[in-house]
Amino acid sequence: MPMQIAHTRAEVRAMLGERRPGLVPTMGALHDGHLALIERSVAENPLTVVSVFVNPAQFNDPGDLERYPRDLERDTALIASAGADLLFAPPVSEIYPPGFDTTVRVGDLAGRWEGVHRPGHFRGVATVVTILLNLVRPARAYFGEKDYQQLQVIRRMHADLALPGEIVGCPTVREADGLALSSRNVRLSPEARRTARAIPRALAAVVAAAEAGETDARRLEAIGRAELHAPDIEVDYLAVVDGETLAPIARLNPGSRLLVAAEVGGVRLIDNAAVDPGEGEGA
Ligand code: PAJ
Repeated sequence: MPMQIAHTRAEVRAMLGERRPGLVPTMGALHDGHLALIERSVAENPLTVVSVFVNPAQFNDPGDLERYPRDLERDTALIASAGADLLFAPPVSEIYPPGFDTTVRVGDLAGRWEGVHRPGHFRGVATVVTILLNLVRPARAYFGEKDYQQLQVIRRMHADLALPGEIVGCPTVREADGLALSSRNVRLSPEARRTARAIPRALAAVVAAAEAGETDARRLEAIGRAELHAPDIEVDYLAVVDGETLAPIARLNPGSRLLVAAEVGGVRLIDNAAVDPGEGEGA
């Protein structure tokens, strides 16, 4: 059956009826990272809904919102060929109609790391994802580990507010040299693109040191930072944190996470990796 396209909340409800699909929320400008989420949903659910909505509420910089890449025609073709059944591409007035006056605010978890750099960002994310989950009522909703803090914010509010379905986190899709796919990568100059390899290298160095037995979070952070010492890299944060609360920790625990944000040639990139305590001798 050809993919259906809905533009309004009412059309989504009418097309789905009682069926509980897989849901993949996106802001479009799709790359292989998004497509991996869609393909996973298609494999795990009889029906898959993909949303494409550049959510103004999660942009704290109006220029960033304006510059955000949009190509619905290309996205529609990619989503259809990945096997999705329904594309939801609403206008802003459909998600935020006149009089809209409710937001979802997650607490401490949303205030750290990206939340410091982008005040209000996670409130916008939490609000739109709540609307999408309540509208689509998915059996499963798919999110990338690439945006690890976003995934944890969504897991937290999903549990706290008893939202429908299950939240499924999916591994980060990377380029051959390790750089995580992101719609921002196209803004990197060829030179900055080469320099950006230092980010996955830093992740790998920390993971290797943890596997070799280093459990001290500050020492692991120093190992990661050393990889990012370069004139055109500006580290915003590099931190070993609890994988659930994202609070800094002193020693690795099962599920700890390394979070990194850095500007490379003026483009802000984020990445993260699981850092589990290894089998090696403790330092
Ligand atoms: P967007 O940046 O379009 O990302 C949509 C989904 O794709 C998110 O779950 C994101 O984590 C995932 N993703 C991005 N790059 C990835 C990669 N390299 N590997 C695996 N998954 C990747 O994130 C958003 O949109 C928005 O905040 C949204 C959740 C749609 C709410 O507006």
